[in-house]
Amino acid sequence: MRSVPNYHHPYFIFFILILFLAFFVSANTFSATESLTISSNKTIISPSQIFELGFFNIATSSRWYLGIWYKIIPIRIYVWVANRDNPLFSSNGTLKISNNNLVIFDQSDRPVWSTNITGGDVRSPVVAELLDNGNVLLRDSNNRLLWQSFDFPTDTLLEEMKLGWDHKNGFNRILRSWKTTEDPSSGDFSTKLETSEFPEFYICNRESIRYRSGPWNGIGFSSVAGTNQVGYIVYNFTASKEEVTYSYRINKPNIYSILSLNSAGFLQRLTWMDAAQSWKQLWYTPKDLCDNYKVCGNYGYCDSNTIRNCNCIKGFKPMNEQAWDLRDGSAGCMRKTRLSCEGRDGFARLKRMKLPDTTSTIVDREIGLKVCKERCLKDCNCTAFANADIRNGGSGCVIWTGEILDTRAEGGQDLYVRLAAADLGDKRIKNEKMIGSSIGMSILLLISFIIFHFRKRKQKRSIAIQTPIVDQVRSQDSLMNEVVVSSRSYKSKENKTEYLDLPLIEWEALAMATNNFSKDNTLGQGGFGIVYKGRLLDGKVIAVKRLSKMSSQGTNEFMNEVRLIAKLQHINLVRLLGCCVDKGEKMLIYEFLENLSLDSHLFDKTRRSNLNWQKRFDIINGIARGLLYLHQDSRCRIIHRDLKASNVLLDKNMTPKISDFGMARIFGREETEANTRRVVGTYGYMSPEYAMDGIFSMKSDVFSFGVLLLEIISGKRNKGFYNSNRDLNLLSFVWRHWKEGKGLEIVDPINIDFSSSTLRTHEILRCIQIGLLCVQERAEDRPVMSSVMVMLGSETTAITQPKRPGFCIGRSPLEADSTSSTQRGDECTVNQITVSVIDAR
Ligand SMILES: *[C@@H]1O[C@H](CO)[C@@H](O)[C@H](O)[C@H]1NC(C)=O
Ligand SMILES: *[C@@H]1O[C@H](CO)[C@@H](O)[C@H](O)[C@H]1NC(C)=O
Ligand SMILES: *[C@@H]1O[C@H](CO)[C@@H](O)[C@H](O)[C@H]1NC(C)=O
Ligand SMILES: *[C@@H]1O[C@H](CO)[C@@H](O)[C@H](O)[C@H]1NC(C)=O
Ligand SMILES: *[C@@H]1O[C@H](CO)[C@@H](O)[C@H](O)[C@H]1NC(C)=O
Repeated sequence: MRSVPNYHHPYFIFFILILFLAFFVSANTFSATESLTISSNKTIISPSQIFELGFFNIATSSRWYLGIWYKIIPIRIYVWVANRDNPLFSSNGTLKISNNNLVIFDQSDRPVWSTNITGGDVRSPVVAELLDNGNVLLRDSNNRLLWQSFDFPTDTLLEEMKLGWDHKNGFNRILRSWKTTEDPSSGDFSTKLETSEFPEFYICNRESIRYRSGPWNGIGFSSVAGTNQVGYIVYNFTASKEEVTYSYRINKPNIYSILSLNSAGFLQRLTWMDAAQSWKQLWYTPKDLCDNYKVCGNYGYCDSNTIRNCNCIKGFKPMNEQAWDLRDGSAGCMRKTRLSCEGRDGFARLKRMKLPDTTSTIVDREIGLKVCKERCLKDCNCTAFANADIRNGGSGCVIWTGEILDTRAEGGQDLYVRLAAADLGDKRIKNEKMIGSSIGMSILLLISFIIFHFRKRKQKRSIAIQTPIVDQVRSQDSLMNEVVVSSRSYKSKENKTEYLDLPLIEWEALAMATNNFSKDNTLGQGGFGIVYKGRLLDGKVIAVKRLSKMSSQGTNEFMNEVRLIAKLQHINLVRLLGCCVDKGEKMLIYEFLENLSLDSHLFDKTRRSNLNWQKRFDIINGIARGLLYLHQDSRCRIIHRDLKASNVLLDKNMTPKISDFGMARIFGREETEANTRRVVGTYGYMSPEYAMDGIFSMKSDVFSFGVLLLEIISGKRNKGFYNSNRDLNLLSFVWRHWKEGKGLEIVDPINIDFSSSTLRTHEILRCIQIGLLCVQERAEDRPVMSSVMVMLGSETTAITQPKRPGFCIGRSPLEADSTSSTQRGDECTVNQITVSVIDAR
């Protein structure tokens, strides 16, 4: 007689429990008697259920791979692929331990991939094990490590994994990209650490270098501002006899973050966002033109904040003047005066530079800058020197003995470049003595500004394409020994650590800062609320935007959006410093920008005369860069929806910064167009399809950009435009002149001197053409911002003739309940209304 098991019996439950535990305990190891087949769906799981090893295919592909992915995260990322270049072509694969190796067999039992360990006194049986950090180990019965997947990375660097050289065993760990996002086989891009005297890493496209990180300066790689962006990720760079490696640890629990080289050749940090249930790209490189290896040739440096990205280091001049004018800096620069090599040379201090390529360097970590300088002077081959480590005020010495190449002027550290005495200017000696005395420096600065303005008034402006006005100190070539670059670096230490957690500022603190939201502190008023100027207790000057209480947005949505916007970091976007949700109010705290909004300059009778063409061109370029960043950066696409002159703020150097994301919409990567029931935005800047049908996309921002561009050139408002020639608005006015070949007649006559240069005239006409292209009636005809950047940046790219602009900016039939619709007019009339209906999200 058979007994029926009693399911409620305690022993039975205990038995199940044991079985259950046994299952999980053994699940992370894999012994010689086991096998893993595709069809069984069996996988190996790490002890805490974080990682999973098994076979996978992508989509419905018939290629099968053995790989590792996060079990704990619903969206799969394959962090390691064993047989990336030897896939199984049918779903009959098997993983086994065979001859003390981990081997994948295909349907006819042929090995397609093996760990390939040979020799040695391996004690059978061998066991494979998947750890919680995603490493697969192969150990023998003496617990000796035979093999580990961490030594054979695919495209991903996991926490605790090392990139770089193991000198003891003579191998290099590199990351190699997938071929495409769907094909794990070896792609063209690789990331590897080079073991020169002063190691740095490269991203290569096949054999050619695409990007160089700059050397490790004790805190991060010289150019990679982003590597230490997040406080909870601790980087470890080790250079010793045994190894030259780079790795990181995450010292906050339950954060999953990886570095990977994607198939387009970008090294990126992806972090799992639990709230959003998605992987978010928090950082990537290369970021811009200046990150391209050697883009400015020898002795040139790249600065993305100047019109022409390439500049010559002080004391050097362009090798090929003509190519340089065409914005091709790759020929580089040459010395104005040869070095004497008799101890009479000196040094120019370049601030905040990405250190040059370190292929020919000598490093001495024991000496400081002073001895370093002497050593450089004694060595005729020495071209530059710098601190090897920037921690604690700087220590160690690096000497460059070859050409200086691939530097850029953002982030980084001081670099001292050797120059002949003649190229240093006679102020050198005085200047050096003054370094300690800030008073002396300020006097010098004051004098230089006075001289600068004096000269400017006296002389007619020369063709100054090369000189970025944003930094007037820089244009004073002979006055200062130091070349001040990137004084507008906007990343401060404190916000690096708060990358994920935006500071919440208390209501009381803001009330105090703004003098109880006093009228005198008001900077402006928009549909969304009032903006106040304030000063925090620590002296920091801020702009506080107090959203009107009517705002229908919920607190959670508001916070999500604010967090996202806080993460946008670009020189041409206003920085959000914090926010406040308290006492039923929502407030946003921004950096304060000295020169307020663009419209206050552009449309002001007296102030507009300070905006010469060069400044206007810089502003146009800056806005374009900011908008490009919004449209194309990272996984989400942000449509601003309310770009206009009053939403572009100017800092003290007149660098434009896009502000007011109150209406911005965040798009998924795939999403390109959306429809809204309520049209928000400002008439005059709205594209026809948005104003009429509520359809918005990147192209509606491009339209607004085009209007703004034409406003900047003409100095006239589109909205409220009036002239006797019965043009409907600025766009039709510009269009009429353009068609008649009289484009230059629309240009703001103030301060634009055509006679000085035909080059500039071309530039202006080109800008008008670009503006007209952006405001074309049909969204599909308008260029995307990346094309706009290309067109703005090069005088040689051919650009098409614009078609008719969409200048019928009528009212949307959908927002009849708007409170401001009293001034309803028919289509194609001048419309002065700013619509500020809050979009219910
Ligand atoms: C394996 O998983 C797939 C998809 O999850 C499923 O269709 C298939 O039936 C499973 N096979 C076995 C043997 O469990
Ligand atoms: C491959 O798998 C199919 C079904 O999964 C099975 O019928 C066939 O026999 C297998 N082939 C080999 C060589 O094992
Ligand atoms: C193992 O060795 C074979 C033959 O030398 C080679 O084709 C294969 O790529 C090696 N596998 C690995 C994982 O290195
Ligand atoms: C950095 O890595 C080295 C070797 O890889 C290791 O010895 C050292 O303990 C690590 N340091 C930290 C702080 O993790
Ligand atoms: C300078 O460089 C040349 C050629 O590269 C080399 O022959 C010479 O030894 C170097 N001089 C010093 C002092 O290092």
